[in-house]
Amino acid sequence: MYDQNPTLEGIKTIDEAQQGNVLFKDHWKTSHAPGARHFYIESYGCQMNFSDSEIVASILGEAGFYPTRNIEESDLILINTCSIREKAEETVRKRLKVFELVKKERPGTMVGVLGCMAERLKKKFLEEEKLVDIVVGPDAYRDLPNLIGGAEAGDKMVNVLLSREETYADINPVRLESNGITAFISIMRGCDNMCSFCVVPFTRGRERSRDTFSIVAEAVQLFEQGYREVTLLGQNVDSYKWENPETGELVTFAHLLEQVAWIHPDLRVRFSTSHPKDMLDDVLHIMAKYENICKYIHLPVQSGNSRVLELMNRTYDREWYIGRIEAIRRIMPDCAVSSDIIAGFCTETEEEHQDTLSMIEWANYSMSYMFYYSERPGTLAARKYPDDIPEDVKKRRLQEIIRLQNAISLRHNQTEIGKTFKVLIEGDSRKSDQDFCGRNTQNKMVVFPKKAGLKPGEYTHVKIREASSATLLGDIVD
Ligand code: 5AD
Ligand code: SF4
Repeated sequence: MYDQNPTLEGIKTIDEAQQGNVLFKDHWKTSHAPGARHFYIESYGCQMNFSDSEIVASILGEAGFYPTRNIEESDLILINTCSIREKAEETVRKRLKVFELVKKERPGTMVGVLGCMAERLKKKFLEEEKLVDIVVGPDAYRDLPNLIGGAEAGDKMVNVLLSREETYADINPVRLESNGITAFISIMRGCDNMCSFCVVPFTRGRERSRDTFSIVAEAVQLFEQGYREVTLLGQNVDSYKWENPETGELVTFAHLLEQVAWIHPDLRVRFSTSHPKDMLDDVLHIMAKYENICKYIHLPVQSGNSRVLELMNRTYDREWYIGRIEAIRRIMPDCAVSSDIIAGFCTETEEEHQDTLSMIEWANYSMSYMFYYSERPGTLAARKYPDDIPEDVKKRRLQEIIRLQNAISLRHNQTEIGKTFKVLIEGDSRKSDQDFCGRNTQNKMVVFPKKAGLKPGEYTHVKIREASSATLLGDIVD
């Protein structure tokens, strides 16, 4: 089944299709060429932001900027920002204070703000933070060389235009913080869902899907470079839809997933994020059909209560969500599911909070990202509903959610003791260079003693002997 992928025929890899990014063969090497300039970039927030920073690095490379990890030697400091919660924005403001000190030492250094916060605050950023020279929204990164030129001439530069078409499909990302084994591929941008709490539709614009061929070509190229896992990224991957302009053929997410799975059985495929209203059985059947599509779905519930879900404009209710989890279990009994949860959304009662707790228990999530509600200016919720749950109540409810999820994650992991998993070795474990770490198909981190001859990028089988709520410990079995 793997050696007859009709869609791969005749596709050029990205390197052939465009100029390959030769500048960055060893992309962290400081260039001492006369006039060489360097940029330093920090990324905050979701994986999409980290992925965007790799696109930015590519655009800057073409403009003659080399990346550096040393802020002191940078001519351009960039911060790719997140607006999802107030706290994320506070973190960025704190970092800007640090950049101010660097700029004092080296007055010529330019500072650019990228991403969601740039898009949300636009020109206001330049008024609020005097050190900022450049403000660029998520759809305007191609304009960076021009904006830098303006900033060098002493102007304050802004481009926050959102686009209905931009997908950066032709840009070959520079894998900045890569382990060489796992990589992210953006398959779409923006979001049309308008969840009432969420600022993303305003900061990242309308949803658009990237050309299927360019996605598959990027995955092929990564595989050829030695990568063994790709994660397809989008705010709502299940609504991926791309029409081939030549044939009129419509490619859905299920089709795309299958095409990437066809590349090679040793290339693992993951994806994130799924929306419960759009995740239908076609995707589940494709997942079940291919061993190399990982058995793990991030399916954010946000709340376990139907009234709150309606206020959140999630467009599904508790029963629908339960139905989706039942479908996953029916089609892939070994599939792990994780979630995002918001505590203390507008008008949420104690009983409704209890519904969230019971959902966590019932869904048996392997893990969750958990937050308390943070009102974001301009969102539907900010305009329509009172942010009326006191902060101490929000925090207490969040603590209850975290405590329950931790207990369930531990229980989930303990049931893995004695089982053997195929693990993709990612590198040394964080705690010891005597141990490797890697993930199993359910996205659980597995740590195990090294064995001679095995190296990162290879698969091995590990039998689990011990479990914490976050990690499985085991030993290689032949
Ligand atoms: N407050 C708290 N959490 C939020 N999220 C999105 N917007 C907010 C907000 N205003 C959470 C959701 C989403 C995740 C990426 O962030 O759970 O799924
Ligand atoms: Fe925000 Fe909802 Fe879109 Fe996710 S699906 S980015 S939570 S609006």
